[in-house]
Amino acid sequence: MEGVIPSPNIWSSPDVYELENTGVDRSGVLDAALREVADWTGRDVLDVGCGAGFHLPRLAATARSVVGVEPHPPLVERARARVAGLRTATGGPVRVVAAGAAATGLPDTSVDVVQARWAYFFGPGCEPGLAELARVVRPGGTACVVDVDATRSTFGGSFRRTWPDYDPDAVDRFWRRQGWTTDRLSVDWSWPTREQFEAVLRIELSPEAADRVLAEDPERTGCDYGVVLRWRRY
Ligand SMILES: C[S@@+](CC[C@H](N)C(=O)[O-])C[C@H]1O[C@@H](n2cnc3c(N)ncnc32)[C@H](O)[C@@H]1O
Repeated sequence: MEGVIPSPNIWSSPDVYELENTGVDRSGVLDAALREVADWTGRDVLDVGCGAGFHLPRLAATARSVVGVEPHPPLVERARARVAGLRTATGGPVRVVAAGAAATGLPDTSVDVVQARWAYFFGPGCEPGLAELARVVRPGGTACVVDVDATRSTFGGSFRRTWPDYDPDAVDRFWRRQGWTTDRLSVDWSWPTREQFEAVLRIELSPEAADRVLAEDPERTGCDYGVVLRWRRY
């Protein structure tokens, strides 16, 4: 499929990525910020790059309808299995479409709220997906993109060590030029055991960067994590 961005973390280690999702934002800071920017209660929701569909049931709990879009076939299968038989709060559909962000196959102006968490919308290069959002989001609707804030936090610094060519200022400039707003949040990023924390670190960071986080504090089972929440209205 055209425009698919390899995601080694979830593609190679879907079970560890599932574990990772359970330890992100335990105190609900990101969830509250997303709701404040674009509450999805009673709305038609699109989750772009939904992966194994971790967030679909939570969205369905209050939405009118939910569609997850995901290009990687094994993850489409996992996501479909997760939502099999599930309906939204209002009895609406919850479904998963095998597609990429640039060509979702959804009808024009059919969505109120879009969420893309750590998926596809990483900066320059995602213009085809932005054009697709402009097509599928209703006037008055909102799109939200969640990604790592590589300018700060223990995880952000480790991300920069893993991807030294990543330029967070250039990425911020890109989103500003596209007319998006960026909010900076700090979320919990922790697991019950050291083994789980290490497993998650090792699918996200280079061996050197992961070793460094672990060595900084031999007791820690998580670390501070800066997030960018980018959004725009249509
Ligand atoms: C790091 S995972 C995040 C998954 C999910 N959003 C979550 O939070 O659990 C990134 C996802 O984006 C998907 N992806 C890659 N290229 C894509 C594209 N062009 N359009 C939509 N999703 C894409 C990957 O297959 C992967 O499932």
